[in-house]
Amino acid sequence: MNKIKKGIIPVAGKGSRLLPITKTLSKSMFPLINKPVIHYLIEEAICAGIEEIILIVGPNQKDIKDYLDMNSDYILSFDHFSQELNDLINLLKKIKITYIIQSEPLGLFDAICAAKDYLKNEDFAVMLGDDFIFHQNFDKYGIGTLCDLYKNNQTYYLGIQEVPLEDTNKYGIVIPTYEKSNLFKIGGIIEKPKNNPPSNLAIIGRYILKSSIFSLHNQINPGINGEIQLSDALSAIIDNEDIYASTINGQRFDIGDKKGYVNAIIALSKTL
Ligand code: G1P
Repeated sequence: MNKIKKGIIPVAGKGSRLLPITKTLSKSMFPLINKPVIHYLIEEAICAGIEEIILIVGPNQKDIKDYLDMNSDYILSFDHFSQELNDLINLLKKIKITYIIQSEPLGLFDAICAAKDYLKNEDFAVMLGDDFIFHQNFDKYGIGTLCDLYKNNQTYYLGIQEVPLEDTNKYGIVIPTYEKSNLFKIGGIIEKPKNNPPSNLAIIGRYILKSSIFSLHNQINPGINGEIQLSDALSAIIDNEDIYASTINGQRFDIGDKKGYVNAIIALSKTL
């Protein structure tokens, strides 16, 4: 099979950078004008040809489920829908949504492994809810760029972008094996390097992973910030698998950062 059909969106993180609002509102529910971030992520997945989203949620996380629930009392109380509500209903008709519970937020790789039994031997996409990809003129953008690459060569892909050197300590930074280009094979990843980053090419929360990554379940020790890091799992599998980094179509904003969040809204406001 050379098509990515399933995408994981882990949303159980505590959102500590954006407290106190994240005490009651998941980061993926932050509004970008009149739609929450999760809505845009689902749109991006549908454009990429993904048929099912697996949301990795915390045990008591209700707000995202409520938003995506088309049988809620709120919806049923309408006898006809506004255009905006119709847009949401039509969006959700195009994709299946599955929820898997992560009992404790132990890190990104731990969150992804919560879907191990569900995905079995299927390769899949990962989209991080912190990263909003704004686009105006692309049919395929964000994860769609990587899904297209997978059609030709079924291996691992990471979406990357250049960041200022002083910001490299906020990201997974790839070690390039070839000269920088739009698509190149990597030699490893350093998660949030404190000094001497191997490049200024940062992972921007879009991944295509093969099911072989699950062979490392329970084998990755907590890394930086005490979290079980996906970057560490990828660095461990690189001896057996090719991992490519690719730039993506669209402009990425970090909505887990106050300035990034405001800038995402400013970008969207230009389309109103
Ligand atoms: C995660 C990943 C990191 C990546 C970043 C993109 O970090 O671990 O490699 O660069 O997302 O947003 P987080 O921002 O969750 O700490």
